[in-house]
Amino acid sequence: MSIRFLGTGCYLPPKVVTNDDLAKLVDTSDEWITQRVGVKERRVSVNETTADMATKAALAALEKSGLEACDIDLIIVGTITSDTLCPSVAATVQRNIGSQGIAFDISSACSGFMFSLETAVAYIERGVAKNALVIGAERLSKILDYTDRSTCVIFGDGAGAAVVTKGENYLSSTMYTSGNDEVLYIPDNVGLSPFYEGEEQKRCVHMDGQETFKFAVNRITQDIKTAAEKANIALGDIDHVVLHQANIRILEFASKRLKIPFDRFFINIDKCANTSAASVPIALAGLDASGKLKRGDIVALSAFGGGLSSAACIIKW
Ligand code: ACO
Repeated sequence: MSIRFLGTGCYLPPKVVTNDDLAKLVDTSDEWITQRVGVKERRVSVNETTADMATKAALAALEKSGLEACDIDLIIVGTITSDTLCPSVAATVQRNIGSQGIAFDISSACSGFMFSLETAVAYIERGVAKNALVIGAERLSKILDYTDRSTCVIFGDGAGAAVVTKGENYLSSTMYTSGNDEVLYIPDNVGLSPFYEGEEQKRCVHMDGQETFKFAVNRITQDIKTAAEKANIALGDIDHVVLHQANIRILEFASKRLKIPFDRFFINIDKCANTSAASVPIALAGLDASGKLKRGDIVALSAFGGGLSSAACIIKW
């Protein structure tokens, strides 16, 4: 027993920020960002919270699933940009949609949705939950330093969601963590403690881009191979690859290393940029909405990010 997908959905805030817009803030250009990252524009929240975006994605997925909020008994949100440390984004989504389900967040940076999905599978397999809403939602614009050209051009805001239930379609998965705060690090505030003696750090993304790049290419290749082996699926039999949209060159490298044709990779990085935990569910919803995803298709999902962490799974749609 595992799970099957009943519906997917996503939400992107309406404000479009182009590369030319960012070139007015930092020393960069549309040409550099397009060639080195693959992003042309990103969506940025002006006043919507992470929970607002998560709620809209959840409602879109619910509508497609044919279920009602009252049918959902588990809500998990992968996020590193919760609006408040308490309540969780998931608890706010629960209230917003009118569900009674248990709800909590998972923090695993860009792998957050994948870790959340795996957790939902475990809950459903144990019979603790019947129908789950699994969401990835991020308002990364609030933790970006818009004076740092090496990070602010990469990221965007948004949310993606999936409704899952008992089924046989989650064929295999793999997860990985290697504790490391040198490659990717987002410090938090120390608060109002009068006893703190250290230095307050800037609460924004600190990233060693090249190390992240190498980690990404290695993990994607290894994770998809491991998940495919566990599912007894040849790499050539994968119909669609839905990767974390971090950098177009990472996706191209992955295609070459895995020897899976690039036209099987779903791409929306040009329009959405890197939305961290929201990236995979937004891409999955995009693929689902495109009409290219057919019942029985083999889909590989894969993400990597801070932690350092990574995960992949194989789904029979
Ligand atoms: N515009 C113009 N020039 C730039 C910019 C910019 N926006 N950013 C960096 N540069 C410059 C650098 O200063 C450097 O200049 P120099 O040679 O004069 O020193 C030059 O471009 C090359 O810099 P690199 O860092 O070597 O550029 P690279 O090709 O590695 O691209 C990037 C940087 C885009 C960050 C890339 O390394 C990358 O995508 N890494 C992976 C990031 C990722 O996947 N993150 C996902 C996880 S995020 C999470 O979990 C929250």
